Amino acid sequence: MEVVTSVGQMKALALALKRQGLSIGLVPTMGYLHPGHLSLVQAARSECDRVVMSIFVNPLQFGPQEDFTAYPREPERDLALAAEEGVDFVFTPTGGEMYPEGFDTHVEVGGILTAKMCARSRPGHFRGVTTVVMKLFQIVQADRAYFGQKDAQQALVIRKMAADLNLPVEIVTCPIVREADGLALSSRNIFLSPAERKAALALPRALLAGRALILQGERRAERVRGIILNALTNPDLRVDYVEVCDGRTLADMAELQGPVLLAAAVWVGKTRLIDNIYLEVRP
Ligand code: PAJ
Repeated sequence: MEVVTSVGQMKALALALKRQGLSIGLVPTMGYLHPGHLSLVQAARSECDRVVMSIFVNPLQFGPQEDFTAYPREPERDLALAAEEGVDFVFTPTGGEMYPEGFDTHVEVGGILTAKMCARSRPGHFRGVTTVVMKLFQIVQADRAYFGQKDAQQALVIRKMAADLNLPVEIVTCPIVREADGLALSSRNIFLSPAERKAALALPRALLAGRALILQGERRAERVRGIILNALTNPDLRVDYVEVCDGRTLADMAELQGPVLLAAAVWVGKTRLIDNIYLEVRP
């Protein structure tokens, strides 16, 4: 496995691979790797000739009050895990390499996708994500790029950017990897105390209660939202949002039918966690 820190070198390596006719799969991450990230590598390996993983804690997608400096980092361990998983190149630039003095261009997806859910509580977040991901697509010349359904809104925003700007990259969304008890894996789970870790379980359980209600025949979105909210009413949690909406556009839906997303964000102490369940609802 080769570790690349310079944008110029990564571009040159990617162009050389292209000239050899090899396909490139990109797995963008902010590091502190867990099996959720590694599942994206496995998907990329099965479909692409070479796999590039980027590890870059992107300052642009963190708000001024957010955890950019506290974001967990463990570069040596990440490199060992990436090598073990069969990553061919790790691209891990510095902040200055990605955003040199005078950097002044941003990519922003408009519309509903960036107007609700995480966009509300994290202004500018998705603009930071699309800007860095667009740069990564250009630098790595990816044929396919792999994202987790864990960040359902992010995956939809990136898909929209790729479609609207006719990017020559296929966006692949991979299933959520969870702990045995149901908590979705996240780099931020490390911040949870044992008591908070226990309280956090209410999040996947609330979404499962919502899904169970739909499977029992409930089609009114407000009812499903109500049961999820109710299951999150707990002094150890603070609800940021609960959404029951169209799973492809995030548009509001009164009557559930077709692709549906049950999504929620909660604060557990100082840690914000998100989770979701996607399902196809028959009329
Ligand atoms: P990060 O949070 O490190 O996540 C990197 C990728 O791993 C994302 O596509 C995310 O959805 C996926 N992922 C995280 N937890 C997962 C889980 N439990 N199961 C499956 N996939 C999971 O998301 C980002 O970084 C950044 O915003 C990034 C796209 C790299 C841009 O900076």
